[in-house]
Amino acid sequence: MIQEADLLYFKNWFEMYIKQFCTGVERIDSAICLKVRHTKDVVREILDIADTLQLDAEQHCLAEIVATLHDIGRFEQYMRYHTYSDQRSEDHAKLGLEVMSQTGVINRLSKDEQELVRNVVYYHNRASLPHSDDQKFLLILKLLRDADKINILQVVTEHYAGINRNNAINLGLPDTPEISEKIVQCILGKKIANVKDMRTVNDFKLLQVSWVFDINFPRTYQIFKQRSYIDKLSSALPQTEIVKHAIESANSFLLQNA
Ligand SMILES: [Fe+2]
Repeated sequence: MIQEADLLYFKNWFEMYIKQFCTGVERIDSAICLKVRHTKDVVREILDIADTLQLDAEQHCLAEIVATLHDIGRFEQYMRYHTYSDQRSEDHAKLGLEVMSQTGVINRLSKDEQELVRNVVYYHNRASLPHSDDQKFLLILKLLRDADKINILQVVTEHYAGINRNNAINLGLPDTPEISEKIVQCILGKKIANVKDMRTVNDFKLLQVSWVFDINFPRTYQIFKQRSYIDKLSSALPQTEIVKHAIESANSFLLQNA
C-alpha cells in the first residue's frame, strides 16, 4: 500500500533526476524549467481537484505521484529533439515509460501499482480516455488529465498575454493567420479537436479551447470559468466570424457545466 514515505521518495527522486538537465545554456535551461514548473503546478492543481472529492489516503498519494511523474519523458524529449512537439519528435508519454523503466524509479511500488502508474502516464496525453473497467485507474487518470489541462492553459494564456513568455510553448508552429476547418468543426460539434489537424499557432490555441469538452470534474469547469481561459485564448485569436462561433460554442458548454 502506498504511503507518505513513497510520496517523499518520488518528490526527492524528481529533484535529483532533473539536475542532470541543467546545462548552463539559457535556451535549453528555460525550456527545461518550463516543464519542471509545470510538473510542480500540476501537483498543486491535482490536489486542488482531489480536495473536492472524497478520496482515501492512498488515492490521494497516487494522484500526487502520477502528477510528479507524468511528464518525466519531457526532459529526454527536449534534450534529444530540442522541441516539445510530439509530432516532430516522439510521444513524450512513451518516452516517460522508457525513463521509468531505465531508472527503475517506480520499482519500490507493488506490481499492480506500477502498472497503474505506467498506464496513467501512458494515457495522460491521449485524445480521449481509454475504455477500462478499472475504476481506480480511471479516477487517477481523469484527475491527472484535468490538472494537466488546467496548468497548460495557465501557462499558455500567460504566454499569449506577454507574461512569462517562453519560446518552447508554441511547438515551433508558424504564427500565420490560417485556421484549420477541422478543428473549428470539432469545437462547433462540442468535441475535443485532433492534434494531427494542427498546422498553425492559431490551430494550437483553438485546440486548447476544445479541451473544455474533455473535462472530468466539476472543480475543473469552475477553474476554467474563474480563470477565464476560453476568453483569454479568444483574445489571442483573430476575431473572424468562424472563431467567434467556435468561442461561443465552447463558452456555452462551459457555462452549462460550471
Ligand atoms: Fe504531458
